[in-house]
Amino acid sequence: MNLTETKAWSAVLADAESNRNFSLRAAFAADPDRARRMTIEAAGWTLDYSKNIVDAKTMADLRAVAEECGLKDKIEAMFSGEHINETEDRAVLHVALRDLSGGPITDKATGKDVLPEVREVLSRMEGFANKVRSGLWTGFSGKRIRNVVNIGIGGSDLGPCMATIALASFSQRDIRFAFVSNVDATHFAETVRDMDPEETLFIVASKTFTTLETMDNANTAREWVLKRYNGNGAAVAKHFVAVSTAADEVAKFGIDTANMFGFWNWVGGRYSLPSAIGLSLMIAIGPDRFREMLGGYEAMDAHFRSAPLAENLPVTMALLGIYYNNVLGAQSHAVLPYDQYLARFPAYLQQLDMESNGKSVDKKGRRVSWQTGPIVWGEPGTNGQHAFYQLLHQGTKLVPADFIGFLRSHNPIGSHHVHLMANFFAQTEALAFGKTADEVRAEGTPEALVAHKTFEGNRPTNTLVADELTPASFGALVALYEHKVFVQGALWDVFSFDQWGVQLGKVLAKKIIPELTDGRPLSHDSSTNALIERFRAANA
Ligand code: F6P
Repeated sequence: MNLTETKAWSAVLADAESNRNFSLRAAFAADPDRARRMTIEAAGWTLDYSKNIVDAKTMADLRAVAEECGLKDKIEAMFSGEHINETEDRAVLHVALRDLSGGPITDKATGKDVLPEVREVLSRMEGFANKVRSGLWTGFSGKRIRNVVNIGIGGSDLGPCMATIALASFSQRDIRFAFVSNVDATHFAETVRDMDPEETLFIVASKTFTTLETMDNANTAREWVLKRYNGNGAAVAKHFVAVSTAADEVAKFGIDTANMFGFWNWVGGRYSLPSAIGLSLMIAIGPDRFREMLGGYEAMDAHFRSAPLAENLPVTMALLGIYYNNVLGAQSHAVLPYDQYLARFPAYLQQLDMESNGKSVDKKGRRVSWQTGPIVWGEPGTNGQHAFYQLLHQGTKLVPADFIGFLRSHNPIGSHHVHLMANFFAQTEALAFGKTADEVRAEGTPEALVAHKTFEGNRPTNTLVADELTPASFGALVALYEHKVFVQGALWDVFSFDQWGVQLGKVLAKKIIPELTDGRPLSHDSSTNALIERFRAANA
């Protein structure tokens, strides 16, 4: 059942109708307890959702929609290993990756408890990470590893890259961490420019080990290393390890499978950071911190699974997003971290959310008549303020936004953190309450400027706050968004764990590759033919 088929959905639509003139100013004035009532906590995070343009009845009706859609059962189906990724016939068990204490967790198709293998890989990763960190693992010529370069793309890049930046204050600083993803050779060339191959370890991260970008970059990296060793192939084993589900492909590439860290087809690429895909992160922050991160994930998982819907953080954020997306017509959702360490978090969420819920057919394959996943975007504060916040405050678009901040900074220098957080608090206040024309006039503003200086307010925001950015709070934050995406996909009745939409472009690119380099006749449309001809002429 999708959200529009529920009985409660008409109540949600009626709420929107009767709340057409909803005013956050009025709502806060009428209820001094609003902020307290609309604040929930879990796994070290506080969500204040009081600055959303909803009242208690709308929230209750949205929760009724979730109940009717069978959300609780769907959550249970995921946690208990059912094959909810039906189009790929797979279980969806990323929650098993951070189940440090419980179990067993059974993949329903195989009947096998997945936790023993999860723990075995985790402990192999720990052994390896410790060797690299301590200098026990050296390059082929015996030099200490000073650069760790992860080669991967999508879920095999965005997670570890984002997380290594996010947790940089916990990382071992005498090793440099870099991430090469783009098939554009510039990415590889500029990344390794100042690196010594003898001091460089490549982690080739690819679930399938067939991804064009990753294989190109891995092959180029191998040539770069072998050039230094005069073509001595024995060097590969000391400078390359693999993270993959495909042992045969790894062996074909020439990496010893003894240096391969596996994961499983029940881990979606965009959900794979807490698997072996996080190896670069583990080398950066060390096994203990990595386990703390898994603990943060696990705490949010437990909250999501057991908390009543009204107190459930991921569920609440998901329902608010649905209200804006499906009822009030918002097309996008902004994520605005007020912490430089989370600079890549919006990019990470783009894949998590848009690859999961950017679908236009329901689970039965019928074209949906309701909106599905929003466009997710954002930049760290306060940079965004000086770029696109004009539109947030005074534009014609409805852009619900998440503001994410920390009470304490890892870099408590001068007044920076006070200034940062003052902006953090000021922005949601300004967006919610605006500035009326009368208030503008009261400042003596000439009448011709009053309209320009007026802020209508009622721009909805969530505020998410934790004490400090730690591995645990970070893990809980990622899990929060994973589960938010899950809830939305469940109510939109789409398959959130496949990604067929990325295939067509990949297949066409494979067809075009030889066409760019030989003179074979072209059979595309006139636009594509002409563009290819132009490339051929420029490279003749
Ligand atoms: O972009 C499509 C995709 O399949 C993602 O889902 C995945 O994260 C990425 O490609 C990389 O795939 P792999 O890890 O198999 O190289």
